[in-house]
Amino acid sequence: MHFVLFSAVLSAFTLSVSAAPVAKPTFAKDVARIVQKNCEGCHRTGQIGPFPLTNFQEVSAFGTEIKRVVSERRMPPWSAVPGHGEFKNERRLSADEIATITAWVDAGTPMGNAKDLPPAIQWSDDWAFGKPDLILKPAAAFELAPTGVDEYRCFVMPSGLDDVRYIQAMEVRPGNRKVVHHVRAFADTTGKAREMDGKDGQPGFDCSLNMTAAFKRIGIGGWAPGNVPAKNADDIGTFFPAKSDVVMEVHYHRNGLKESDQSTLGIWLHKNTPKHIQKSLIVANIGIRIPPGAARHEERGRAMVNKDILVTSILPHMHLLGTEMKVTATFPDGKVQDLVWAKPYDFNWQTSYRYKEMLRLPKGTRIDAVAYYNNSESNPRNPSNPLKEVRWGEGTTEEMLVAFVGYIDDPNPPAASTGAIAP
Ligand code: HEC
Repeated sequence: MHFVLFSAVLSAFTLSVSAAPVAKPTFAKDVARIVQKNCEGCHRTGQIGPFPLTNFQEVSAFGTEIKRVVSERRMPPWSAVPGHGEFKNERRLSADEIATITAWVDAGTPMGNAKDLPPAIQWSDDWAFGKPDLILKPAAAFELAPTGVDEYRCFVMPSGLDDVRYIQAMEVRPGNRKVVHHVRAFADTTGKAREMDGKDGQPGFDCSLNMTAAFKRIGIGGWAPGNVPAKNADDIGTFFPAKSDVVMEVHYHRNGLKESDQSTLGIWLHKNTPKHIQKSLIVANIGIRIPPGAARHEERGRAMVNKDILVTSILPHMHLLGTEMKVTATFPDGKVQDLVWAKPYDFNWQTSYRYKEMLRLPKGTRIDAVAYYNNSESNPRNPSNPLKEVRWGEGTTEEMLVAFVGYIDDPNPPAASTGAIAP
């Protein structure tokens, strides 16, 4: 049943057919297919990869670097340790694929016979799932000053929808990737965000001090570096209240230059009310204290599941000191199951890990997150100099311990079922 449910959303990134390593690999016969499937999605013009890898010249020119990054498993970027949760958006080369690339580079990157080349992929730089039902963009570009603290700016865009709707997918298109750190989208039904909009002569308003109050924050989506747009299954949707304003919160990192940004949201809506509503449960610990100099400091967060749920995804979130997070579920009968083990955690590649099959967590299950932080000089990303004790906070020099657990209510909870094994 789940195969049918999810087959429609398998993307090029997730199809991983492992072939035995080949003796004398050539680009045309062997390597081109691996690169097309696993790299081209990001390494082509206009995408986040720093150079294109779309033909023999481009790929062979980077042979040595490619061999290194695939052997170290730095590329494709993917932090979830195999065997601790099965994910449909997995980006991982098989050991055979790595062996094929290595042998090809060691042999001097031979082209082989051009007749063996796979057909070129016709990428479209259009939206991920065809034209969105809503395309929302601030009225003008926002001008970011070169220096100062990080900026949180909220842009307000009326949805124009009179009825409650359900979101199937959202694509965030950061306008200026040099300064856009992450984006969150909310629906506000109070009209308060709209009142604050544009008061200082620029589009949107400063929402750094209004993190919790000021307007209603019904989460409807977001983006962080490395996110690839994903679509809910046909019968799962995210609640989108009637007559709401969409508030797009953009967290900007300044880079010492005057930069401008106009990020855009594309939203695909379900035609009808879907059977299941996508929700989110937060496992967090706002009391974290990470001492200066600690290279492997442990913190824990915990949450109880207070109803029967099916988990769809999990997103571990820390900042620049975070090195590892393991999330487990302890069932009411004491059995423990790993939900995800992100190691090494990489702030630049925060990923919503989407389960191949939804995980049933009965009421009374406990979710534990164990996180590790490196607040020493051995962490090249440590933003604090001199080192300092780091506590919870939104800022880049502060830390977080959060696991966002996406779920739907269990439509067939064990207590109400007839004893049949549910999906
Ligand atoms: C999800 C997007 C994505 C995918 C998929 C991806 N890359 Fe990358 N790649 C990036 C980005 C972004 C960078 C630059 C930042 C970084 O190193 O993380 C990068 C950097 C690189 C570098 C330079 C690393 C260095 O140390 O200078 C190489 C080489 C590379 N990628 C090869 C590959 C290969 C080969 C594949 C496929 C097997 C691949 N990438 C898949 C996004 C991607």
